[in-house]
Amino acid sequence: MAVISLVGVGAGMVLVLLVVALHYSKGTGWEPTADITQEVLERRAATVAETDFPEPMNRSIGGGGVAAVGAGEEGAELEGEEAEEEQSPADMPEDEVEYFEVEFVKQGETIELASNETVLDQGEDAGMDLPYACRQGQCVSCSAKITDGPADEYVTHFKQETLSDEEMDNGYTLTCVAYPKADFTIETGEAP
Ligand code: FES
Repeated sequence: MAVISLVGVGAGMVLVLLVVALHYSKGTGWEPTADITQEVLERRAATVAETDFPEPMNRSIGGGGVAAVGAGEEGAELEGEEAEEEQSPADMPEDEVEYFEVEFVKQGETIELASNETVLDQGEDAGMDLPYACRQGQCVSCSAKITDGPADEYVTHFKQETLSDEEMDNGYTLTCVAYPKADFTIETGEAP
């Protein structure tokens, strides 16, 4: 029994010495690699030349933003111009609508037409059987002749793409895109 105890005590002491020795040892000398990310980024940034103009988005959010706002304003102006060009008489405010006496020669009727609806629509509403096809100013199916003079003096054409200026000067109109703006006499079913 005494022998076993001595062996146990000896082993214990060896273990203690080992732990102490490891505690005071200097290790392997291995050092973790230094983090050079920031240094690399700064070095690369230093190689990019300074500019006087606004940088696009990710390089200069402020500059890109200003450019975007500029384009936006320009876009708004363009839209405004286009909207002005494409203003349809059909969109006029109710209190600006005017009414005119229009004589349909072939139908033997004279009716009052509003300035915010087409001659074709209003003629049909009055029960007349008028010719048409596309209803978009792109054919001549609805063509008619205003006998009083140049068509543009009596109707406003909106998106008329078929008649020439000369034909309109001779009184021809496309009733599907013609909005009255004066009293007139019209012969439907007349093409140039
Ligand atoms: S119906 Fe085609 S231009 Fe009027």
